[in-house]
Amino acid sequence: MKKTIYMPSSKNIEKAAKILEKNGLVAFPTETVYGLGASAISDEAVSKIYEIKKRPFHNPLIIHVASLEQAKNYGIFDYQAENLAQKFWPGPLTLLVNKSIGSRISSIATSNLQTVALRVPSHPVALEILKKYKKPIAAPSANLSGTVSATNASHVFDDFGDNIEMILDGDKCTHGIESTIVDVRSENIQILREGAITKDQIFKITKLELDAYDGHKILSPGQLEKHYSPKARVRINVKKPNADEYFITFGEKNNNNHVNTINLSSTGDLQKFAHRLYACLRDLDSMNIKKIAISPIPHQGIGRAINDRIKRASK
Ligand code: TXA
Ligand code: MG
Repeated sequence: MKKTIYMPSSKNIEKAAKILEKNGLVAFPTETVYGLGASAISDEAVSKIYEIKKRPFHNPLIIHVASLEQAKNYGIFDYQAENLAQKFWPGPLTLLVNKSIGSRISSIATSNLQTVALRVPSHPVALEILKKYKKPIAAPSANLSGTVSATNASHVFDDFGDNIEMILDGDKCTHGIESTIVDVRSENIQILREGAITKDQIFKITKLELDAYDGHKILSPGQLEKHYSPKARVRINVKKPNADEYFITFGEKNNNNHVNTINLSSTGDLQKFAHRLYACLRDLDSMNIKKIAISPIPHQGIGRAINDRIKRASK
C-alpha cells in the first residue's frame, strides 16, 4: 500500500478532518470523481490546491458542503435552486448561485467572482469527512490541471505522489464523470457543464427548457476547449480506426476486427461507458499508447457529458 493512501476508517476520517483544519490537502472519493480537498475558508489552504494542480487562478473551485442548510450560509438559493437541491442533493449536481452576504468562502477559491458553485456529494466517505470537518471543503477533481480526472485512489497517487498528506481510498467512483453544473441565478437556468445528472432529469424538476452552454462567452473559465486530455492524441466519432490507433468502442455493433480494441460497454450501457472511460484513458497512457480513436457515442442521457469530455480530450 502506498503510504499516503488510507482506508476510510473512522480514525482516518478524523485524521483527514485534522489535516484540513491545519490547512493541509486531503484527496477523497466522491460519486463522480476523486476530489482534492482543502478548507474552503482558508486562502492558504486553497492556494495549495492551485499550486499542486498547476491550475490557473482564474478557474474557480467547487465548494462541497454536508447539506443544503449549510450551503445556504455561503450562497443565495431562490426557488429553482432550492427545488433542484431538494431533489438531487446529496448527488452529482453543482449549483452556481450568488455568494451570500458575509459568505466566508475564500475569494481565491471563487477566483474573485461574486458567485459560488456548491454541491453536496453523496459518496459516504465524502459525506463523513464533511460532517466531521463541519466547514466547507473546496475540491476540484484530483488530477493535474487539464488531464484526465481520477476515478480511483491510485490515479490520484499517480498524479500527486506524496505531495498531499492523505488520499482516502473509497474504491471506484459510481458515475466516473464529473457533476453537472447548473447556473441557477435567475429563471433562465443554464447548464454550464454536462455531467452525471442529465438535462432531462433537470427538465423534469424545473419544467424549464434549458440549453447546454454553447461555450461562446466563457462564464465558467474551467470550460476550457482542451481539457480532460490523456497524453495520447484522441480522435472521436470514428467508425473505422487507422491501423496505428487503439480503438475505444461502445455497443455491440462496434465489435469489429480491429486488433487493439477495447469495448467499454458491449451492451450499449452509457453509464457503464462513463464509469470506465477515465480509467481506460489513463491505462492507455501508462501503456504508452500514442493514438486513440473513439467510436460514436449516442448524444443522449449521460452520453451528452461523455461527448463533451471526449471532444475536449480530442482538441
Ligand atoms: O464532480 C465534480 O464536480 C468534481 C468532484 C470532485 O466534486 N469536481 C470537479 O471540479 O469536477 P473541477 O474543479 O474539476 O471543475 C469545476 C468546474 C470548473 O469548470 C470551474 O470553472 C467551475 O466548476 N466553477 C467553479 N466555481 C465556479 C464559479 N463560481 N463560476 C463559474 N464556474 C465555476
Ligand atoms: Mg477537473
